[in-house]
Amino acid sequence: MTRFREGFVDVNRVRLYYRVAGEGAPTKLICLHGGPGGSCDYLSPLLKLSERSGVEVLLYDQFGCGRSSDPPNDSCYTVEYGVEEVEGIRRSLYGDEKIFLLGHSYGGLLAIAYALKYQRNLRGLIVSSGLSSVPLTVKEMRRLINELPEQTRRVIEKYEATGEFTHPEYLRAVDDFYRKHLLRLPEMPPDVAKTMEYLQKRRVYSIMNGPNEFTITGTIHDWDQTSRLGEIKVPTLITVGKYDEVTPTVAEVIHRGIPNSTLKVFENSSHMAMWEETEKYLATIIDFITHVG
Ligand code: ALA
Repeated sequence: MTRFREGFVDVNRVRLYYRVAGEGAPTKLICLHGGPGGSCDYLSPLLKLSERSGVEVLLYDQFGCGRSSDPPNDSCYTVEYGVEEVEGIRRSLYGDEKIFLLGHSYGGLLAIAYALKYQRNLRGLIVSSGLSSVPLTVKEMRRLINELPEQTRRVIEKYEATGEFTHPEYLRAVDDFYRKHLLRLPEMPPDVAKTMEYLQKRRVYSIMNGPNEFTITGTIHDWDQTSRLGEIKVPTLITVGKYDEVTPTVAEVIHRGIPNSTLKVFENSSHMAMWEETEKYLATIIDFITHVG
């Protein structure tokens, strides 16, 4: 396991928990977890980048997530609050330095939102299994549901019609979807399980996302910045898994929108290529950071 230091930093009245590896390296990489409402635990493979490429890697739990405190009030559960948090943590820890920013899933959405406001502070942007449009992503997820076995589909329809999102039969069907499109591994790694635990325990996921991955009814449900992607001028890497719940179509839309971008598809992955194809994933990130320099 990569050695890291843990700490807390106060940003916009939230006490944020972070992990940093490779401290003092000239290149800084801040990583944003998904959910919204997950935690940084499942991003642990990214800490290895510090050993392999001379990068200081920072992971943190966003407001109301993992070990970080809640925001001051319920009106804060927005992407905008998250953007100011990224900028706050960058400024607190790195002052005037430009950074690389990597966001996974919802973290990718957040990274895009950050770039639209603060790209002057970025050397490069990495969007892994991320999205520029929640409505398009939900539409794509529904297409994937339609490709599930009929029995699973029927169960999903049945309980969605009655709003019984916690019925054991429904949860088993959700799990079938997750095994195809969230994480294609026989066992869930403990770090991923830890994030899932926090996601259930804290309130952010239900407020901002919704009952599950493909039922996005929370505060981000209509978020769509696709038409503004052309404003992002920094070098950008977009990665996606072939079987990703945030589908390759969603990734292609981002790729077409950002002029200076590269798209990499991981052929044996769904939503968590950092676990499903760890070596290839890390090599792709290192390659990008090295080329941008
Ligand atoms: N709910 C998805 C994630 O952030 C999009 O993982």
